[in-house]
Amino acid sequence: MAAASAPGKVILFGEHAVVSGTPALGSAVDLRATAEVVEAPGSLLVEVSDLNLTVERFSVDLLTGDIKSSFAADALRSTRYVSAVLREFDARNLKVKISSQIPPGSGLGSSAAITVATLAALSKHLGLDMSRWDLAKSSHRIEKEMQKGLGSPMDTALSSFGGYQLVSRQVESVNLPPIDLVVGYTRIPHDTWSEVQKVQSLHSAHPEVVDSIYQAIGALSKKAVVLLGEEKLPELGALMNVNHGLLDALGVNTRELSELVYAARGAGGVLGAKLTGAGGGGCIVALPGDRGIEAVVTAIRQAKGIAFRVRTGCEGVRLEPCSRS
Ligand code: PMV
Repeated sequence: MAAASAPGKVILFGEHAVVSGTPALGSAVDLRATAEVVEAPGSLLVEVSDLNLTVERFSVDLLTGDIKSSFAADALRSTRYVSAVLREFDARNLKVKISSQIPPGSGLGSSAAITVATLAALSKHLGLDMSRWDLAKSSHRIEKEMQKGLGSPMDTALSSFGGYQLVSRQVESVNLPPIDLVVGYTRIPHDTWSEVQKVQSLHSAHPEVVDSIYQAIGALSKKAVVLLGEEKLPELGALMNVNHGLLDALGVNTRELSELVYAARGAGGVLGAKLTGAGGGGCIVALPGDRGIEAVVTAIRQAKGIAFRVRTGCEGVRLEPCSRS
């Protein structure tokens, strides 16, 4: 028996441009996915108990009696990552129990956290001594396979190492102070793969234009490391707004994301707000100022988003005590 948990993440600066190798800054946050591996002779089971489904949809077709539930679809998707990990080790005779505080499909790193937590629990159960580096490497390979070969190591690195990571062609841990952010979820799950495809097509069509946008985004990520290190939060917030504008230029902003961004900025005192992750749906992040977190949370909720506070710079994957059941 063994259990492990791994954190979700937010991308603070640099999404999309990072796919072409310019730096992006991400942080692990205090929402975690947990995986527990227990003996189950003669079977191979994955049990998903709770995925923090803030957007659970449930409908019954009264003519056919068919039940449609977003939980079922999301639970199934998360089991695909667990199953890829189990295949990797040719594992048998066990059950993996998954639970997660990270809303799936929201760009907060749910699948990476589930993959890393499962790998860590399984490696402990099998008596393998996988280091954080091993976990980061294997989980990135698995995620890439599942996402048709696309994807930076950002999510899996953050789930494995925690803290802040500056990702370009390599992954570098950076020591920066934790901050509180407000996440606003549009309630629209996003599809990272199709958003990445969209930006890559724009890049192929107009490389001379898109390359300069990438360069500007890379400069924002590097500057952000300095500003956050010096705790110059108003300046950091201003750069978040610039990054949002550049992501809009790349075509991954949506009306729903904009509405949450402007609601957050209108809350008063907010230092900056941008979409986070691939766009096309998913979440925004806002950096609250001296008027505090509650004003931002309320403004996002009034704009029909789901709002919650996250703390950055959190711990990476760790072993957990096993449950009694
Ligand atoms: O949608 P998310 O949060 O998984 O973020 C994707 C970030 C991209 O830069 C668009 C793609 C990547 O692999 O880095």
